[in-house]
Amino acid sequence: MSKLTRSVLVDIELRLKNAGVPSPRFDAESLVAYSLGIERNRVGLVKEIDNEQYRELEKLVEKRVRRIPLQHILGEQGFRRLVLEVGPGVFIPRPETELLVESTIRYLKDKNQDKNIVIDLCAGSGAISLAIATEVSNCEVYAVEKSKDAFEYLTKNIENNKENLTKAKAKFVAINSSIREPISDFSALVGKVDVLVSNPPYIPNKMIPREPEVKDHEPEMALFSGTDGLDLVKIVIKMATDLLKPGGFIAIEHADVQGSSVDETGVPFHLLESKAFSKVEDRRDLNGLPRYTVGFKI
Ligand SMILES: C[S@@+](CC[C@H](N)C(=O)[O-])C[C@H]1O[C@@H](n2cnc3c(N)ncnc32)[C@H](O)[C@@H]1O
Repeated sequence: MSKLTRSVLVDIELRLKNAGVPSPRFDAESLVAYSLGIERNRVGLVKEIDNEQYRELEKLVEKRVRRIPLQHILGEQGFRRLVLEVGPGVFIPRPETELLVESTIRYLKDKNQDKNIVIDLCAGSGAISLAIATEVSNCEVYAVEKSKDAFEYLTKNIENNKENLTKAKAKFVAINSSIREPISDFSALVGKVDVLVSNPPYIPNKMIPREPEVKDHEPEMALFSGTDGLDLVKIVIKMATDLLKPGGFIAIEHADVQGSSVDETGVPFHLLESKAFSKVEDRRDLNGLPRYTVGFKI
């Protein structure tokens, strides 16, 4: 016997809400859409769900009730114009990072150069680097990622966007290395890079994330970065200092507690302390929290 989609949705929403899922309606609609093989905005047009579809849907709902991330269940996450493959082992790109990308793309478009060299450190699934490479023409983009698992997703996402990259005349180089080690591809790029972007791990080692989706399912390597969370942030700033050309742009994401003050051990402090950047400015995310810092190489 089939079930009314409307009642199924109400039931799933309630179960997800009781499990503490932050966006139960959105997730319920996404799971129903996925099991029916349609877009989320078309769920309202389907009157009934048949038995077999319902059994499959139940399996998905049980996973989400156990707080397995929605993106792991669906196997993808939207980021600007991209649909990125994600799953266990790779960080799920966040909407707030889209703002950092927006600022960077605006910088590149305003500059309107024939060709740009862009470096993305701690690239994960490729959200930042692929967005830039596909939205701004003629970029030579280098994406560095240490984790083998994350690198596999990066490689898949490059493959999935091959056409878009060709259309944008992009050259895309993915490097499976740690930024703690010297990167040979960069020795020829000292002082020549137009943009260096990064959303590195920035949580202090002892801090335990609240949401189970993050605590139990995001790779530790994507989250933690030393006692104050700034170990990799400092490396990113040092690399930007060496690699950017004069006038080159840095955009780096950070925790909301790290960006607000130049008096504390925050990102602007490190950027300013390096004395290598001008017009250092901290920008806010969609919740009004300090989220990323931009600056220009002197
Ligand atoms: C917060 S995630 C961000 C991923 C991606 N940039 C995004 O915004 O979705 C940080 C990434 O840094 C990678 N990472 C951690 N330590 C690294 C290192 N030493 N060198 C290169 N990548 C590293 C992690 O594996 C993870 O993919």
